[in-house]
Amino acid sequence: MSLILKPIKKEHLESVAELEKICFSQPWSYKSLEEELTNDTAHFFVALDGDRVAGYIGLFIVCESCFVSNIAVFPEYRRRGVATALIGRACSCAVEYGADFISLEVRPSNSAALSLYTKFGFTEMGLRKNYYRDPTEDALIMTKLFDEQREEKV
Ligand SMILES: CC(C)(COP(=O)(O)OP(=O)(O)OC[C@H]1O[C@@H](n2cnc3c(N)ncnc32)[C@H](O)[C@@H]1OP(=O)(O)O)[C@@H](O)C(=O)NCCC(=O)NCCS
Repeated sequence: MSLILKPIKKEHLESVAELEKICFSQPWSYKSLEEELTNDTAHFFVALDGDRVAGYIGLFIVCESCFVSNIAVFPEYRRRGVATALIGRACSCAVEYGADFISLEVRPSNSAALSLYTKFGFTEMGLRKNYYRDPTEDALIMTKLFDEQREEKV
């Protein structure tokens, strides 16, 4: 596998919409993904193995805040560092755009995602009760602050 990360384009949307359906009970549709192509606050990246989409991440950066809408990797590409590469790109994009932190929601039952975020230094900052549907579950809010990283850079 030779992995390259690129900003999402229209040609990737079909694969990403398929990936959403595989991974989530309330997937983003092709149309909703397409709308983000022209949204200035949206920063979506795909991980490509040749022409094939292996995974994707969606970010929204507004003022000093960065939120991850979703991250997903096709089952056949999992445990090969694809999500690690995508989160790394998300963090550098957030810092580049002046965000103070990056934040996301995750199901407490999603141990794979929790382990991934913890490795990156995200910590639990709160809870949204009954946030998810199908099945209903709370969401943990996990956040990584960039202050230390900035100070190191100065
Ligand atoms: C969570 C997900 C994005 C991880 O993608 P990935 O490319 O397999 O992750 P990586 O290979 O970069 O793994 C990085 C770390 O995450 C953790 N991790 C990933 N998959 C794991 C699993 N099945 N069980 C436990 N830990 C796991 C590990 O700490 C791993 O490091 P290691 O391989 O050195 O042990 C992927 O499983 C996925 O798409 N799941 C479905 C969608 C989803 O749940 N998205 C998150 C929504 S909040």
